[in-house]
Amino acid sequence: MDFKELKIILKRLYKVYVKKHIKNILVALLLSIVVAGTTAGIAWLLDPAVKKIFIDQDRTLAWFIPLLIIITFSSKGLSLYFARIIIIRIGEEIAGQIKKEISNHILISDVQTLENRHSGKYISNIMHDTGQIQNLVSTGVLNLMKDSFSVIALVSLMFYQNWKLALFAILMMPLAAGLARTLGKRIGKATREASLTSGNLVSFLSEILKGSKMIKIYQKEKIENEKAKKVIDELVERNIKIGAILVRATPIMETLTGFMIAGFIFFSGKLIASGDLEVNQFFSFLAAMMLAYQPIRSLATINMAAYSGAAAFKRISQVVDKEIQVLENKNNPDLLIKNSDIEFKEVFFKYDSVDTQAIRDINLKIPGNTMSAFVGHSGAGKSTIINLLPRFYDAQKGSITIDGQNIKDVSLKSLRKNISLVSQDVILFDDTIRNNIAYAKEDASQKEIERACKFAAADEFILKLKNGYDTIVGENGVRLSGGQKQRISIARAILKESPIILLDEATSSLDSESEKIVQDAILNLIKNKTTLVIAHRLSTIHNANNIFVLKNGNIINNGNHDFLISNCKEYKSLYEKQLK
Ligand SMILES: Nc1ncnc2c1ncn2[C@@H]1O[C@H](COP(=O)(O)OP(=O)(O)OP(=O)(O)O)[C@@H](O)[C@H]1O
Ligand SMILES: [Mg+2]
Repeated sequence: MDFKELKIILKRLYKVYVKKHIKNILVALLLSIVVAGTTAGIAWLLDPAVKKIFIDQDRTLAWFIPLLIIITFSSKGLSLYFARIIIIRIGEEIAGQIKKEISNHILISDVQTLENRHSGKYISNIMHDTGQIQNLVSTGVLNLMKDSFSVIALVSLMFYQNWKLALFAILMMPLAAGLARTLGKRIGKATREASLTSGNLVSFLSEILKGSKMIKIYQKEKIENEKAKKVIDELVERNIKIGAILVRATPIMETLTGFMIAGFIFFSGKLIASGDLEVNQFFSFLAAMMLAYQPIRSLATINMAAYSGAAAFKRISQVVDKEIQVLENKNNPDLLIKNSDIEFKEVFFKYDSVDTQAIRDINLKIPGNTMSAFVGHSGAGKSTIINLLPRFYDAQKGSITIDGQNIKDVSLKSLRKNISLVSQDVILFDDTIRNNIAYAKEDASQKEIERACKFAAADEFILKLKNGYDTIVGENGVRLSGGQKQRISIARAILKESPIILLDEATSSLDSESEKIVQDAILNLIKNKTTLVIAHRLSTIHNANNIFVLKNGNIINNGNHDFLISNCKEYKSLYEKQLK
C-alpha cells in the first residue's frame, strides 16, 4: 500500500466512522493540550527548583515547588486518564459499528458470494481486522494529538531555555521521521499476511470441529495436527515479524538519543563555560529533552498503526463494498398471489465458480395448486431450479414468473414470504425446538406449533424428549437424528403456511415407516398449494400431477408416471435404479 492509498483509506475512515465522534475527540484534544502543557510544566519547574532551592536555598519555595510538581503530575495523570477513556470508547464504538456492518452485510449478501468465500475469512474480518482499526483509532488518534502537542510544548521550552542547544537537538529529528516511514509500509504488508493466516486458522479450526467424525474414522488426527501446527506456526512467525518491525524503531531511536545526549552534554559544557547557559537551565532543558523522547518515539511508530489499520480497513471494505445482486428494491410492488401458477421461460443459469451451465434452456409451466416433481441423476440441476424461485440465485437469462409477475420485478420480501422451503440439508439453529419451528412465524402460539408438529409427524418424538419443545437441539441440530431434523424442518415449513412449497428430497433421511407418516404430512402440507418437489421415491412421484425429467441441466421430458415409463428411456432407467 502506498502513501496515496493510505490517505484515501484514512479519509474514508474519518468521514464514515470518526467524524461523528468529533465532539468527544475535541474534548480529548483539549485534554491532550493539558497533558502536553503539564509535561512541559514539569520540565520547566526544574529550572526554578534548581535555582531557588539548591542554589539560592529559598525556604518557602522549598515547600511550594515540590507541591507544584505534585499538582502538575496529578493533573497530567488525570487528563491522560480521561482522554484515554474517551478515546477507548470511540475506538470500541467504531469497531463495533464496523462489526455490525459486516454482519449485516453477511445477512443480505448473495448466496453465491458467501459460498465462494470460507466462513473463517468472515470471522477473521470481524475478530482480527476490526481490532486493527480499533487500535488505529484509539492509540493512533490519541497518541497523535497528545504526543505532537507534547513535542511542541517541550521543544518550545527547549528553545526558551536555550535556542542554540535546541537547534542542535532538533537536527536529529528528520532522521527519525524517515525511519518511521519505511517501517510503516513494512508493517502494513506484514499485518496483511498475518490477517490472511489468521483467516486460514479460523477456517481450519471450523473444519476440524465440523469434521471430527471424519477425522477419527479416517484416522487423520496426525495429519490434521501437522496442518494445525503449520498454520499456527505461520501465524506465530507473522506476528513475531510484526512485533519485530514494531520494536525495530527502538534500537535506532535509542542510539539516536545516545548521540543526542552525548553531543548535548558536550555542547552544553561549552555553553556553561562561556556563561551562555546556567546550570538550572541545563537541568530544565535536559528534562524537556528526556520527556520528549517518549512522544517522539511514539509519533515515529504511529504510521505503523496507520498502515496496519488501513490495510485491515481495506480488507473489510472488500467485503462490505461487494455489490449485492439480489437486493430488495423498495420500488417493486408486492407479489400478488392468485393461483400461484409458476412459469420458467428459457431460463439459463451458471454458478460463478464453474464454467459449465448448471441448467440450460428450462421451459416449464406449473399450474397453481398442483404438485410437480423433478427427477434426474445427481447433479442434473434439480436443486438449482428450485433455488432460483426464491431468488437465492438469479438466472442469467430467461424469466421466471409467478401468476404472470416476473419474480425480479416484485419485492423480495413478498416473494419469499410466499415460499416455503424444506431443503436437502436441514438447517437448524442452536436453540430450542420450539424456537426453531417458530422461526417460520414469530408470533406462533404453542397450539399452532403443536399442530404443525402433528402434521409433520414430529410431535411424538418431541414429547418423548425430557424437555419437550424446550429441548436445545445443538449446533445445526447435532443432538437430533437425521429424520428428526427433517421432520422439524417440515413442521417449520407447515407453520409458514405459504402458497408455494419447495421440497428438496424432504423425506430422504426417514425410515419407511416415518416416511409414510411424513408423506401423509406432506399431503396435508401441500393441499391447495403449488408444490415443487425433488423426488427420489415412487410414493412422492405417484402423488405428483406432473414429473419433469432432468438430464445435464435440461428438461428432456415430462408427464405422469405411466406416460414416462412408456415414453422416456431415461425415466425408465432412473425408475428401475433409484425411484422404485
Ligand atoms: N453452490 C454451487 N456452486 C457451484 N456449482 C454448483 C453449486 N451447486 C450446484 N452446483 C453444480 O451445479 C450442477 C447442478 O447441481 P444441483 O445441486 O442442481 O444438482 P441436483 O440435481 O440437485 O443433484 P442432487 O440430486 O445430487 O442433489 C452440478 O453440476 C453441481 O456441481
Ligand atoms: Mg440437489
